[in-house]
Amino acid sequence: MAFTTVIALLLATSSIVVSQNSSSPSSTSVANASQTSSAPASFVTNLELSVEDLWDLYVGPVSTFSINTTVQPTPIPSSSLIPPPSLYYPSFPTGQQVPLQSKNESWRFPKTFWYGVAGASYQIEGAVKAEGRGPSIWDVLSHRVPGYVITNETGDNADNNYYMYKEDIARIAALGIKTYSFSLSWSRILPFGSGPVNEQALLHYDDLIDTCISYGVTPMVTLYHWDLPLFLQNSYGGWLSEKIVPDFTEYARIAFTRWSSKVHYWFTVNEPIVFCGFYPLPENFFKKTDIPKKQQPYFCGHNVLLSHSAAYRLGKSINSSLSISFKTNGGYKIPRTDSAADAQAVQRAWDFQEGWFANPTFLNGDYPPNLKSHVETFLTPFTDAQKEQINGTCDIFAHDAYTSDFIEAPESGIEACIANSSHTLFPSCYNTTKLYANNYWAIGPASDPGSPWLYKATDWVPAFLHYMQDTWKPRDGVAITEFGISEPYEELRTNLASIVIDPLRSAYYRDYLSAILIAISEGVNVVGTLAWSIYDNMEWSQGYSVKFGIQYVNLTTQERYFKASAFEYVNMFNVYQEK
Ligand SMILES: *[C@@H]1O[C@H](CO)[C@@H](O)[C@H](O)[C@H]1NC(C)=O
Ligand SMILES: *[C@@H]1O[C@H](CO)[C@@H](O)[C@H](O)[C@H]1NC(C)=O
Ligand SMILES: *[C@@H]1O[C@H](CO)[C@@H](O)[C@H](O)[C@H]1NC(C)=O
Ligand SMILES: *[C@@H]1O[C@H](CO)[C@@H](O)[C@H](O)[C@H]1NC(C)=O
Ligand SMILES: *[C@@H]1O[C@H](CO)[C@@H](O)[C@H](O)[C@H]1NC(C)=O
Ligand SMILES: *[C@@H]1O[C@H](CO)[C@@H](O)[C@H](O)[C@H]1NC(C)=O
Ligand SMILES: *[C@@H]1O[C@H](CO)[C@@H](O)[C@H](O)[C@H]1NC(C)=O
Ligand SMILES: *[C@@H]1O[C@H](CO)[C@@H](O)[C@H](O)[C@H]1NC(C)=O
Ligand SMILES: *[C@@H]1O[C@H](CO)[C@@H](O)[C@H](O)[C@H]1NC(C)=O
Ligand SMILES: *[C@@H]1O[C@H](CO)[C@@H](O)[C@H](O)[C@H]1NC(C)=O
Repeated sequence: MAFTTVIALLLATSSIVVSQNSSSPSSTSVANASQTSSAPASFVTNLELSVEDLWDLYVGPVSTFSINTTVQPTPIPSSSLIPPPSLYYPSFPTGQQVPLQSKNESWRFPKTFWYGVAGASYQIEGAVKAEGRGPSIWDVLSHRVPGYVITNETGDNADNNYYMYKEDIARIAALGIKTYSFSLSWSRILPFGSGPVNEQALLHYDDLIDTCISYGVTPMVTLYHWDLPLFLQNSYGGWLSEKIVPDFTEYARIAFTRWSSKVHYWFTVNEPIVFCGFYPLPENFFKKTDIPKKQQPYFCGHNVLLSHSAAYRLGKSINSSLSISFKTNGGYKIPRTDSAADAQAVQRAWDFQEGWFANPTFLNGDYPPNLKSHVETFLTPFTDAQKEQINGTCDIFAHDAYTSDFIEAPESGIEACIANSSHTLFPSCYNTTKLYANNYWAIGPASDPGSPWLYKATDWVPAFLHYMQDTWKPRDGVAITEFGISEPYEELRTNLASIVIDPLRSAYYRDYLSAILIAISEGVNVVGTLAWSIYDNMEWSQGYSVKFGIQYVNLTTQERYFKASAFEYVNMFNVYQEK
């Protein structure tokens, strides 16, 4: 790749050290021998670097997989499409003594309801250096920061989707799934995050999108699913700086311009609560910042809202019929007791989670009250023009809604927490637990210990869907854009027959979709669902140790196998969707 960029590098004595320290007072010329300084370790210079140099300096060698050119799909054997045996007795719907056995004639998914599967670039693509991709922060986190990924695994090969996407699309189409949601790798398209555009990456995504369409699968595109171009992080601090707004908007422009005639559904960013929570990033691997650690997530959130809303308005100006939203995340919040303090804690939880991004975009361009009174102590408030820009910039309420939590006030009380920035729960000042107030029963069955935040809590889904619709009143309805569960201890299973029967995940999808059907029958406008995930993948800091796939992937061979849950998921639509 011939792209180069100018990067400020730290000079320590005569050798270049980059990964350890990129802080600098400002770009200082080192040429003037008569200048002196008492901080020689902070001297910087300007060097021209290629994409390859960025890899060599910041990441180091990466591994590759033996399949390293695009492969044609193999026919899906009909024997692999035989549904699994019955896995469990029909469950007892909440409060009923009679198990649910037959089709409920009051339930239906409308004809327009879309159901699909989701994945994300860094988690599935692999081929991290192929065809000019620049490094992202996750290449550094996984390669250079010991223990950041608990298994020390990387996304170097992941599911090799970069070369096997045709097979992957053919497989979901064979199941009858008509929607595929994936994210673009920003640093493939713009190896430095801004500047020169990599045509090979555009051609790759052209073919991915065209392959979806040729199989009758609707492509849905997420622009940003956490793999921030490293160069933007190290140039100006990534999401901590308002400089990201024009860079993200330009990236969005490239994508909208190229694919808006083929892609109707767009998501700008995925789960900003989570990726803003990556800040502060581990020390000594990225550009330093003076922003206090506990404030960094909110600086990120501020710049996400500006970036998202700018991209939304740009996308609509390119093609006003596009559906553009972000995917947020959270869960239903149940007061642990009926005390006034717990009720207040629940409101704080909504305000610091869903409301952080949903109130500004769906309601009024600004943060919810409990969050606003915190962030206004250090963030410049949005101007009226910014509020106007942000307000109204999601078409659907796209929620990654995996689970639910009981919420209670901190033991110290809420006021004492708000007044004490050293309090463990500061600044949100609410506590969560999976246990009912009897301190014995959990909200539902636990997932894998690697995802302690996740229990099957599908009974609460109808209430959650009502809450989303009533609170944020999305124009084009509510969509569950990620849901799924990690089957407990699945990673310990070594033979295929034991892996592919996943009873908890199967029950989760069946019961979750039943809950959506209840909500629809009660008037909630739920428009679509995306199962997380198309197959087992690189689960960020958990590596490959936690499995969320409705397909198993043998990472040695990159062969894919359907799990029972894939059939359960599709079956609910076969039974309940209007033809
Ligand atoms: C070198 O630095 C000295 C002291 O800061 C300054 O007076 C001089 O103009 C500089 N020379 C050049 C060529 O920049
Ligand atoms: C990085 O540079 C700063 C400022 O020059 C210095 O205070 C800090 O100790 C350095 N850190 C490392 C890891 O060298
Ligand atoms: C592709 O994989 C083959 C082995 O299957 C290997 O010989 C070749 O060097 C690889 N090419 C690249 C560019 O990695
Ligand atoms: C990951 O790497 C660190 C540092 O090299 C090491 O201490 C740790 O044991 C490794 N963890 C695993 C699960 O291999
Ligand atoms: C605008 O997007 C819709 C789909 O959302 C598409 O059908 C239409 O062709 C697009 N228009 C242009 C000019 O690309
Ligand atoms: C935000 O937009 C909504 C409609 O999308 C409108 O009803 C509301 O008045 C706006 N709020 C502000 C503060 O502009
Ligand atoms: C939060 O809840 C956990 C578990 O229920 C409890 O152990 C902890 O003490 C609580 N923390 C505070 C600050 O109230
Ligand atoms: C603030 O919280 C810390 C950590 O929980 C605690 O040790 C300290 O006593 C609290 N300070 C006050 C004034 O309550
Ligand atoms: C994965 O593939 C390897 C190599 O063929 C094989 O040894 C292993 O048994 C497979 N794993 C499973 C669970 O099928
Ligand atoms: C069928 O669905 C309706 C509406 O959701 C619900 O009220 C009813 O209890 C369901 N019937 C059974 C047998 O579950």
